[in-house]
Amino acid sequence: KLQLSLAIIKPHAVKNPVALSYIRNVIKNSFIVVKTRRICLEKETAEDFYKEHIQKFFFNRLITFMTSGSIDLHIISHTNAVKLWRKMLGPTKVYKAQFEEPNCLRGMFGISDTRNVAHGSDSVTSAEREIKFFFPEFSFYDWHTHD
Ligand code: CMP
Repeated sequence: KLQLSLAIIKPHAVKNPVALSYIRNVIKNSFIVVKTRRICLEKETAEDFYKEHIQKFFFNRLITFMTSGSIDLHIISHTNAVKLWRKMLGPTKVYKAQFEEPNCLRGMFGISDTRNVAHGSDSVTSAEREIKFFFPEFSFYDWHTHD
């Protein structure tokens, strides 16, 4: 059975043509890309999406960064989509990514713990919540009946 996850390519990576084309190729070669959308986040939307982090010291930094340019959203599918995409991203913390897994996307293109290239849903449940958040018209029912 196919699983879904949400990949969000963050503003600094969307602005970097080398990073963006590399990331797109990696995604295309490993997943079925179900839907893609490029958007520019409003402050309120970003705060809503990241509301579980509202108390964190990096919250304002995160919101400022995520609203600083376009982001690319991809609904991706694979039998192990959630874990596989997180594995390809590597550790959230860039120093860890660079030293321990230099070939992961964050190791290659990460700039800081905030500008860490891309986001990946952390579970099947959050994937569903996040996909509904950005693609309210997406039908999980139709998708699962046809997969
Ligand atoms: P993401 O997977 O999009 O989910 C939460 C984001 O908060 C994370 O990626 C980072 O961009 C950011 N973040 C997490 N931890 C830190 C940190 N220690 N310092 C700064 N930003 C962070």
